[in-house]
Amino acid sequence: MASAQKSLAQAIRDRRSTPSFDGEPIPASDLKLILDAGLKAPSGYNMQPWRFIVVQHPEQRRRLRAASYNQAKVEEASVVIVACGDCDGWRKDLEEMLRLGRAAGMPESYAAQAAANVPEYLSGFSDAEMHGWLNKQVTIATTSMMWMAEVLGYDTAMLEGFEQQGVCETLRLPMSYWVVSLLAIGHLKGADKFDGGRFDSSHTVFGEEYGKQLKLK
Ligand SMILES: Cc1cc2nc3c(=O)[nH]c(=O)nc-3n(C[C@H](O)[C@H](O)[C@H](O)COP(=O)(O)O)c2cc1C
Repeated sequence: MASAQKSLAQAIRDRRSTPSFDGEPIPASDLKLILDAGLKAPSGYNMQPWRFIVVQHPEQRRRLRAASYNQAKVEEASVVIVACGDCDGWRKDLEEMLRLGRAAGMPESYAAQAAANVPEYLSGFSDAEMHGWLNKQVTIATTSMMWMAEVLGYDTAMLEGFEQQGVCETLRLPMSYWVVSLLAIGHLKGADKFDGGRFDSSHTVFGEEYGKQLKLK
């Protein structure tokens, strides 16, 4: 494994949404580590509904930029991972999820419950509910990739500024795909972004119930 350049704690301290990249290519071995980190993420019922399109070719990055409100970093980054969810993934992959699980010791009682619960839970979803479910699952995997990239010494930028249809057309995505975000990875060019700061935790974290201050001894 390539050596980590930073601890996770340091990466969390240092990370900024990178404003500009120098375009230097990323070694395939590092890219593999980054992708694997995402693919090991947890997901509901282990259904892994994520799909990732890895865009490295300059011409394709240029096209992707055009579908991303002309954000320059999409073209400048060494690689842009387009994080998608497949609305029909659970239909296609349920059997394979169960096969993998059984091979690794999944109890039959668990397999039977999952085989019943997954269709029961997901088949009634509206499009909006399915997109919400996919946003959650895919973002966990994409964030895992982001942290692995940061720990390896790369700079990253997560992007939601894109046109759904434009990205689908540019990447020739199947109709059942939903684009969740773009993760640009590379090396910072120029000055980093300012640190916008974070709200005081009393505004965003509560203890035991809403409105009660969390007391950490
Ligand atoms: C899901 C998500 C989508 C974002 N989309 C964009 C984007 O399209 N363009 C952009 O310049 N920054 C984007 N950002 C970066 C945010 O503006 C940034 O995270 C925020 O200002 C805090 O700054 P920091 O990440 O440097 O701490 C996005 C961040 C997240 C988490």
